[in-house]
Amino acid sequence: MSNITFTMIKPDAVADGHIGAILGKIAEAGFKLKAMKLTQLTVADAKKFYEVHAKRPFYGELVDFMSSGPIVAAVLEKENAVEDFRKLIGATNPAEAAEGTIRKMFARSVGENAVHGSDSDENALIEAQFHFSGREIF
Ligand code: GTP
Ligand code: MG
Repeated sequence: MSNITFTMIKPDAVADGHIGAILGKIAEAGFKLKAMKLTQLTVADAKKFYEVHAKRPFYGELVDFMSSGPIVAAVLEKENAVEDFRKLIGATNPAEAAEGTIRKMFARSVGENAVHGSDSDENALIEAQFHFSGREIF
């Protein structure tokens, strides 16, 4: 699988009622859905998913937040998916995100920033397989 990325609509955006609007922006930008589900991370899932940030001061907060409520997990397909999706979501901190980006429009703060996007092809595949079995990816 090349040209795929993995995303989560995070608990803040789900709670704020933005699932439909965010999926609309993703579809408009030309991404195709390969897999999708409404689910919730356990604390152990969130710790594992964000393990690279384990030494960062915000790790505890990040794990608590990401396991605090339902999320939408999805695998998306498009040419240049990883880079194009990160452009579509905007900077980590919504205050610094460009106009029209998903984080600018829907995020609450740097910690509760509406969406996740994979940062490499390698991680996209690892993250997709973390959330979905082979038979759930189309
Ligand atoms: P993801 O797509 O979620 O991986 O975000 P990112 O790649 O734009 O940022 P990064 O991987 O550096 O950080 C992962 C997540 O940690 C961010 O999306 C935020 O939810 C959270 N995070 C990053 N910096 C801070 C911070 O300074 N404070 C808090 N509370 N959370 C942060
Ligand atoms: Mg990241």
